[in-house]
Amino acid sequence: MKDLTPDRKTLDPIEIASRDEIEALQLERMRWSLRHAYDNVPFYKKSFDENGVHPDDLKSLKDLSKFPFTLKADLRDHYPFGLFAVPREKVRRIHASSGTTGKPTVVGYTDNDLDTWATVMARSMRASGTKPGDVVHVSYGYGLFTGGLGAHYGAEKLGCTVVPVSGGMTARQVTLIEDFGATTIMVTPSYMLAILDEYRAQGLDPAKSPLEVGIFGAEPWTNAMRREIEDTFDMHAVDIYGLSEVIGPGVANECVETKDGLHIWEDHFYPEIINPETGEPVADGEMGELVFTSLTKEAFPIIRYRTRDLTRLLPGTARSMRRMEKITGRSDDMIILRGVNVFPTQIEEQLLKVEGLAPHFQIELVTEGRMDAMIVHTEALETHAGGDARKAAAGALNTHIKDVVGVTTKIIVADPGGIERSMGKAVRVKDNRNKS
Ligand code: DLL
Repeated sequence: MKDLTPDRKTLDPIEIASRDEIEALQLERMRWSLRHAYDNVPFYKKSFDENGVHPDDLKSLKDLSKFPFTLKADLRDHYPFGLFAVPREKVRRIHASSGTTGKPTVVGYTDNDLDTWATVMARSMRASGTKPGDVVHVSYGYGLFTGGLGAHYGAEKLGCTVVPVSGGMTARQVTLIEDFGATTIMVTPSYMLAILDEYRAQGLDPAKSPLEVGIFGAEPWTNAMRREIEDTFDMHAVDIYGLSEVIGPGVANECVETKDGLHIWEDHFYPEIINPETGEPVADGEMGELVFTSLTKEAFPIIRYRTRDLTRLLPGTARSMRRMEKITGRSDDMIILRGVNVFPTQIEEQLLKVEGLAPHFQIELVTEGRMDAMIVHTEALETHAGGDARKAAAGALNTHIKDVVGVTTKIIVADPGGIERSMGKAVRVKDNRNKS
């Protein structure tokens, strides 16, 4: 793999400013953001008033913990435009995430917000090792989902040649990567695996592809998956994080030179970690739920938004801004099996240890008697498709999961290609338990 560390001279000065400078800027911007939300969004005025706090009460960054949280339900309750802080005519673009039930959550951007977003995306891509002049293949979905257009505008801002492919038609993805000479790909890690299969199906060696960098996010993925993708494609695999409510992709990104967690672009998004049960902030280094406050957004300011994503904050390394550890999972995706907490990422980690199994999987929850049980569906590689090899691989996976995760599962190994491929975010858990 090439050394793609960006020249420090090309970074935004704030990325490598002192902590004092960063915190001074955060305080000034946080005051503005709280005031902006309070003055222009009736929901925030009401919720601050009910909690007996006022934007003027923010004297230091720590005072943010006096302010109330914002929940996904608050967005739904004010569907579609009730949390906008500017007149609708000033909203230049809308995005929305579908969620699992009911109405989508809707977010909006002014001209300045779109520029901020493109700036943090360009910064994320530069941190990933992408350079001006690179060919960037975008396979994140275009449309209301923030992935495609977010990546697109960031790549243009950085000065790249953008190929706006969106998801789907996997054979054509491979053709375009090869023919246009894409050096960066932006895609969910699970769809990257489908692209990998397609390389093999077309008899191409993925290690010979022109790709140098993959910027993977929108779903949890493990360091084991990073190794798998880096080894097969001979490329850097870098993690990008974001969510529609906060801006979209580009809230935090790993640096290609360290790959040690995601630097949060703290000049625009202020992170906290809270204990999800008590709502109390915890110290840096402790695990909990990630909460974000936007510092510069105009159309859709968001104050103390509970993301449900579980991680911890770590000090800066390649940049002065703090890092968040790779996300373990969402609290909503946590499976409690006979008292043991299990995240799909833990299963992914064990699966990638087993020779002969493909990295595709889905977890099915079922009822057995009066107990919950877990079935891991995965598939054999062509080389291990025979009965004995499959049985051995299933046994090995079972043992790893039992030893490391601490739960007993049933493993079903399908034929090669037997697990449904995702074209965007993979659905990792299917709940078929009896509901009574
Ligand atoms: O997924 C934005 C995005 C697009 C991020 C492309 C990165 C790349 P939403 O659809 O609103 O936005 O979903 C946000 O996805 O709260 C996390 O649970 C999950 N997520 C996003 N990035 C990561 C990541 C986009 N790198 C939700 N690791 C978030 C783990 C992630 N989970």
